[in-house]
Amino acid sequence: MKDETRINHPPNIELPADNHPLNLPVFQNVKWETDSIEEGLRLLRGERAGFFYSRISNPTVRQLELLLADLQGREDCLASASGVNAVTQTLFGLTEARNHVIFFVEGYGPTRQIIRKMLTRFGVTHSMLSIDDLEGLENELASRRTKLVFFESPTNPVNKIADIASITRLAQTHGALTVLDNTAAGFHQHGEFPVDFFVHSLTKFTTGAGDVMGGAVIADRARLDLLRADYRLFGAQLDPLSASLMVRGMKTYFVRYRAQSAAALAVARFLEQHPGCTKVRYPGLESSPKHALARQQMRDFGTVICVDLKAGYEGGRRFAEALQLFARTPSFGSTESLVMPPQMMQPKDFSAEQLRAAEIGEGTVRLSVGLENVEDLKADLARALEIAAAGPGA
Ligand SMILES: Cc1ncc(COP(=O)(O)O)c(C=O)c1O
Repeated sequence: MKDETRINHPPNIELPADNHPLNLPVFQNVKWETDSIEEGLRLLRGERAGFFYSRISNPTVRQLELLLADLQGREDCLASASGVNAVTQTLFGLTEARNHVIFFVEGYGPTRQIIRKMLTRFGVTHSMLSIDDLEGLENELASRRTKLVFFESPTNPVNKIADIASITRLAQTHGALTVLDNTAAGFHQHGEFPVDFFVHSLTKFTTGAGDVMGGAVIADRARLDLLRADYRLFGAQLDPLSASLMVRGMKTYFVRYRAQSAAALAVARFLEQHPGCTKVRYPGLESSPKHALARQQMRDFGTVICVDLKAGYEGGRRFAEALQLFARTPSFGSTESLVMPPQMMQPKDFSAEQLRAAEIGEGTVRLSVGLENVEDLKADLARALEIAAAGPGA
């Protein structure tokens, strides 16, 4: 063989059968061959195990998928390039023209836009209710055939707690599927409820480092099969290197999630008694709405705190700009603390009535608590609240 040929066919490294790497190597690889065409065809027909093309499946991504499915208490998972993609795949994969979708005013903005703008273009209708309005949900389900109910708990951004048992029961009674965006609750919670599909943004809790983007849809196999064919065609696969970083990050998932939940509770307690705060929503806080329900449904309450500042819209700006330990940026769940000021919280597509139902006020701020020392965080918040209250130019 000449050099030009040799460099395109590098030596193969065979591992002895009894010699295992502790970490699965990153399969930074797109194509797999089989010795015979017939075996390749059997692979494609799903008649044998193996890999063919990374847009269909990749071993590194597969390891992450099986890990997440197991944690969430379901059989299988489809990982993809972002949380928004997981939402899109689920909504487009499960609906067709003339189907009806129910979702909630309290949910994540881009999910709302996907349903209101994109699905509408393809003839899928929708109703938007409040997550607190179970009677409205029952009436809506009874009054028209509904394909699916899409909800979150805790909701992003205001941390409302959905009554998962009631929502799934009502949906089942009326033959509708349920999709729960479980991003804020993490992978280890809510699996005991008869939710048909879980959706996650992997961007938050898989590594906590803010270094990867990804999404996942998790369900039992027969349900996930409804999405599988389209998933290959959407072509938004998670790349193997990100999947490998996520598997590595997941090793510390429980330590991070629980430590950050404990710190968030301590910060929420501090804010609750502070005169600069009018309302503090944290599911683990006794005074937070639906705390008893949160306690029944959750073991850990997450990293997000939603707080209303007495100083209002401009006070919220001063508060966020004065904070030194909270980065002024979206997302949550990372090991550094984050803040979203009112200027970044206000939905642009809501009527005044919808804004009221969503409970996003002029001074609403979202915090995500990281792994810094809690006393340092409280001191930073106290100083910023003072600056917010002092008014402009103080
Ligand atoms: C509840 C929820 N769902 C989905 C997403 C989208 O995730 P990604 O940013 O990974 O696309 C987010 C992101 O903030 C989210 O908070």
